[in-house]
Amino acid sequence: MLILGIESSCDETAAAVLRDGKTILSNCIASQIAIHKKYGGVVPELASRHHLENIVPIVNAAVSEAGIHPAEIAGVAVTQGPGLVGSLLVGINYAKALCFSLQRPLVAVNHIEGHIYSVPLHIACEEEKSRASSTDWNTLFPALALVVSGGHTSLFWIRPITSNGSRKEQYQLVGRTRDDAAGEAFDKVAKLLHLGYPGGPVIDRLAKMGNPLAVEFPIAKIRDARLDFSFSGIKTAVLRYAQAHLKNELTTICLQRQDKSFLEHLPQSIYDVIASFQRAVIESLFINTRTAVENYRSRSIMVSGGVACNSWLRSRFKQGFEKMGLPVYFPSAILSTDNAAMIAAAGYPKLVRREFADMSLNADVNLKLT
Ligand code: KG4
Ligand code: ZN
Repeated sequence: MLILGIESSCDETAAAVLRDGKTILSNCIASQIAIHKKYGGVVPELASRHHLENIVPIVNAAVSEAGIHPAEIAGVAVTQGPGLVGSLLVGINYAKALCFSLQRPLVAVNHIEGHIYSVPLHIACEEEKSRASSTDWNTLFPALALVVSGGHTSLFWIRPITSNGSRKEQYQLVGRTRDDAAGEAFDKVAKLLHLGYPGGPVIDRLAKMGNPLAVEFPIAKIRDARLDFSFSGIKTAVLRYAQAHLKNELTTICLQRQDKSFLEHLPQSIYDVIASFQRAVIESLFINTRTAVENYRSRSIMVSGGVACNSWLRSRFKQGFEKMGLPVYFPSAILSTDNAAMIAAAGYPKLVRREFADMSLNADVNLKLT
């Protein structure tokens, strides 16, 4: 059964076709990074205008790359929220129009559930590539899922339940950020150090040249909610540190930014701050996840969202949890950041269970998973 996924919750217009919810036939993404780069973050108005330009070509590309005819699509899964309202509406309305013209059902997907599904989708893709036998999902659940991106930092405990004779996941939100998302902190710190946008990939790369123990940035602990996160304090601490100790270095960076290779020749103190900041953010994610492991019976850990690309995070989680006998799973880089394959994967079981949305479907910017 073929499902088309459409994602437009933030600044990526994406469409993908999956067979049986786990074989990726196409996964097309029109990124707007180049547009938002000069503003140092996503400008919602610009994002929705570019979704409008990109949605038709990107869906056409996904269909043609999959080598299928639109009439073969059994249903369309679209992101309903959370996200930017203007962006979400472009994907939702196009998905509705497609379903109406093809006479196919529409399925509404929570963007965060999409990120969570990117993990089993990645595992299924890897198994297909190596022709390995499929993982028995019951061996991975109950699971703890950390969704960590530019818009979200949430920790879920997931249990499989049976409802009306079919298996589905029950999500319990056990921890969330009280202020900035982790990816947002990466982006804001990169902006204040004049390193460009998005901040995560550049900080990840440059941190390798610094000493992660050079500066001790605070790791927030929420007294009455030990699994909640807070990243605005780390961000402010970097700002204060930069104002107090890095004034000359930052002036030099501003002057050298025209030089394409300026990032490779930063003062050592900047690399050290970057590495120390990254360590503090990842340590906070690790500590809370470890506390959750102590409190919730879990057979695996699944980490998804753009920040799941981070190399320090991957090695910290692997090394920290596998020592405890807990397997840790990450999606590939392309499935970690926003994409439509994950939306199609999360929508597929709903399509099978006939959990359809109707033509009154509206964007929900604060859509909750639990
Ligand atoms: O999942 P995503 O594409 O969009 C949201 O749903 O927000 O995540 C984008 C975020 C950005 O904040 C970006 O800086 C961060 O993911 N990111 C990273 C890395 N790659 C992307 N953060 C840390 N390390 C990375 N390698
Ligand atoms: Zn996302």
